[in-house]
Amino acid sequence: MKPNSKILVIAGSDSSGGAGIQADIKTVTALGSYAMTAITAVTSQNTTGVYSVFPLPIKEIEKQIMLTCKDIKPDAIKIGMLHSSKVIEIVIKCLKKIKTKKIILDPVMVAKGGAKLIDEKSIKTLKYKLLKKSLLITPNIPEAEVLIKKKINTLEDMKNASKIILNFGVKNVLLKGGHKKSEFIEDVYLGEHGLKIFKHKRIKTKNTHGTGCTLSSAITTFLSCGKPLNKSCELGIKYVNQAIKTNPTYGKGQGPINHLNSIKLKRIFK
Ligand SMILES: Nc1ncnc2c1ncn2[C@@H]1O[C@H](COP(=O)(O)OP(=O)(O)OP(=O)(O)O)[C@@H](O)[C@H]1O
Ligand SMILES: [Mg+2]
Repeated sequence: MKPNSKILVIAGSDSSGGAGIQADIKTVTALGSYAMTAITAVTSQNTTGVYSVFPLPIKEIEKQIMLTCKDIKPDAIKIGMLHSSKVIEIVIKCLKKIKTKKIILDPVMVAKGGAKLIDEKSIKTLKYKLLKKSLLITPNIPEAEVLIKKKINTLEDMKNASKIILNFGVKNVLLKGGHKKSEFIEDVYLGEHGLKIFKHKRIKTKNTHGTGCTLSSAITTFLSCGKPLNKSCELGIKYVNQAIKTNPTYGKGQGPINHLNSIKLKRIFK
């Protein structure tokens, strides 16, 4: 098959392959599209934790974005980890030049263990400048709490938080419920298609490394192929669900999910 669409991913590298740019490329490819990348930082990590983060120079980030986009125009852009205010500013400058409307922002701010990954200045730049440029933002509960400066405990809190986030100028929000300790997970969508709650049973496993990156890339891929945004969220959530269910149980810690769950290989290479 030929790729259905072209996607640019701006994010950090995860050496363990389960999250970050590696998860993004796998997801976009497994769903039938073509992935281009601009790497913002290189992390040394495995399933047991993140050991170091090496940020790339701002100029190199800008060059990766502009050179790829001038040559192959992306149908959609997914943005992941942006570690500093300067990086966010340069991404905004590039987005103005590229003029792609389908921009999905996964505001990676809080690690699975609860540690804040970006400083206050970056949070402000993201909230007041980058959100306006994005079609959809996909925060998890701790990230939404940082954005609205309020605790989120219940489904009502999640709905209210989504409303507040829309007021920052983004057109759509998908507030992910994976961090709530409940038997059922609710992901709340609010935006151009109204309110929609995606409810599914929590799968009992420690292997959920990269669920967030994978979800935002899957949504970007469906959207880039012309699916409406609410349908893209629904299909993205289904893909992640299947990927968790069929996870390959790799590593000693929190292992990766199965990005290949959408593919049936024809064994034609003998
Ligand atoms: N144990 C689980 N069972 C089923 N679905 C899950 C589970 N954990 C997360 N999900 C789903 O995975 C998607 C990503 O949500 P999550 O809250 O994990 O994002 P995240 O915290 O940004 O992930 P990451 O830590 O990878 O950045 C959501 O659709 C959520 O419902
Ligand atoms: Mg995340």
